Amino acid sequence: MASPQALQLAVQLLRQGQLVALPTETVYGLAGDASNELAVRRIFAVKGRPASHPLIVHLASADALPEWAAAIPDEARALAAAFWPGPLTLVLRRTARASDAVTGGQDTVALRVPAHPLARALLTAFGGGLAAPSANRFGAVSPTTAEHVRAELGDEVELVLDGGPCDVGVESTIVDLSQDAPAILRPGGLPREELVRVLGRDVPVREASDVRAPGLLPSHYAPRAGLVLVEPSSLAAELSARAGTPGLCVLAPESVEVPPGVDTLRVPADPAGFARELYARLRELDARGCQLILAVPPPGAGLGLAVRDRLRRAAAPRK
Ligand code: TXA
Ligand code: MG
Repeated sequence: MASPQALQLAVQLLRQGQLVALPTETVYGLAGDASNELAVRRIFAVKGRPASHPLIVHLASADALPEWAAAIPDEARALAAAFWPGPLTLVLRRTARASDAVTGGQDTVALRVPAHPLARALLTAFGGGLAAPSANRFGAVSPTTAEHVRAELGDEVELVLDGGPCDVGVESTIVDLSQDAPAILRPGGLPREELVRVLGRDVPVREASDVRAPGLLPSHYAPRAGLVLVEPSSLAAELSARAGTPGLCVLAPESVEVPPGVDTLRVPADPAGFARELYARLRELDARGCQLILAVPPPGAGLGLAVRDRLRRAAAPRK
């Protein structure tokens, strides 16, 4: 766990416009001062992310909302009160504080108050907003340990704060509240059922969006190996059809029966456990030299929705 000295150094670096990798409860982020355009540009450069794709601004608490959001509808206040700090990102109309560099020139900004104690301590000590995308190269699997960040970004980040493995394991749920009806732009660490409970109305997942969100490109969150999504009931048939395929591996919940003799990596049967381990297991399969992953998804309730979404995008055709 990062020391008080490391935290102090992180604040210093951020004030100088440098980048720091920090743990959140969802995934590790690559943080820079959201009010420093050069720092924000460096984030895009290190990730290899197109400049038109907006970043999430992380805040120490909901008290900072009015600095960044020009209009805060009641439903935004209700969600912030219920779920911040936590794995929820709100898209709201922006104030001038949210620059074009951060928002990709859109008139909205994505805001989140993370729950990880180290992220909270850093945000409080820093005092401003931190732009932080997941600390991976564009399109690749998000990091859920400090080791993942070092392996992927290495020398390009001044400091990696180690906060242990992420509890949630998939990115925050993004809810657009800048238009009339709330909509999920990215299913994530906060289950849709929770949003529905607090808002008292349906919150649909908006698939086709005019908002440029890279997490919504078809191929994203992808390991090196190819990946095919296989429902539990078709696993046996799929395996016999693909018998003899070199580097074939199965990623499946403990509850799913896998025929003997197949290279299999297990994840917990509950969707939250699957989410927590998802990205680490995909990296592990790459490290094993697996060429084709047959991934058996959990049912779509709770965190299952986000896990299914990520596996679907990992399975999408690559460019
Ligand atoms: O859990 C998370 O959200 C992690 C941790 C580090 O906080 N962050 C994360 O950031 O996943 P990133 O950059 O990998 O994904 C941010 C997503 C992108 O899909 C981006 O396009 C979308 O948020 N986004 C950002 N600003 C937006 C806006 N104004 N309108 C719609 N989508 C936006
Ligand atoms: Mg990302």
